[in-house]
Amino acid sequence: MANPVTILGIAGSLRRDSYNRAILRSVRDLTPTDAQLEIFEELGQIPLFNQDEEANPPEVISTFKSKIRQADAILFVTPEYNYSIPGVLKNAIDWASRPYGDSAWAGKPAAIISASPSLFGAARAQYHLRQVFVFLDMYAINRPEVMIGKAPERFDNQGRLVDHTTQDLIRLLLQNLIDWTRQLNASRSVGVR
Ligand SMILES: Cc1cc2nc3c(=O)[nH]c(=O)nc-3n(C[C@H](O)[C@H](O)[C@H](O)COP(=O)(O)O)c2cc1C
Repeated sequence: MANPVTILGIAGSLRRDSYNRAILRSVRDLTPTDAQLEIFEELGQIPLFNQDEEANPPEVISTFKSKIRQADAILFVTPEYNYSIPGVLKNAIDWASRPYGDSAWAGKPAAIISASPSLFGAARAQYHLRQVFVFLDMYAINRPEVMIGKAPERFDNQGRLVDHTTQDLIRLLLQNLIDWTRQLNASRSVGVR
């Protein structure tokens, strides 16, 4: 059997009862057996980016960058703040993209889940994140678009994601991410990408 695809999951919220963090925890139970999910839990320890420090970053950044590099694929699960990506997530992305020429993101396959109590499921944050992927040279999964609206209705009172439609969409997204990652890795091994 092929090696499992390793996925690094990053949630874009620091809130204790965050829906997005709860969704990322639920992804563990939805991940197929031919993949492994590691959740990056240290987002709140990342300081504000300062370009003066990019050549000698704090240890948390070196750890973050090596976790990204070790992972075969990245899964972002994010809310939307003022129609865009939360600052904590953009800040972390910026750190791991620097110094110029030493980005940890380059060439990584990626998938996005977003959730909001509103109807639109943080769709605008997803599209901003996709725009960021262009400069980062990340390969985003296009379908399915997992934009979870009315998020509070999809959890039980213990904060577990129990909505079957949402679970099925996430399973499909993960499967597409795994297939896409294997395809990319196979192309790389024969020098196509
Ligand atoms: C600064 C701020 C801006 C927000 N802007 C949006 C927004 O543009 N669109 C949206 O759907 N929800 C917005 N919200 C509401 C969030 O979707 C809501 O707080 C959500 O629960 C945050 O995600 P979390 O539960 O994972 O922390 C905003 C919340 C904050 C704190």
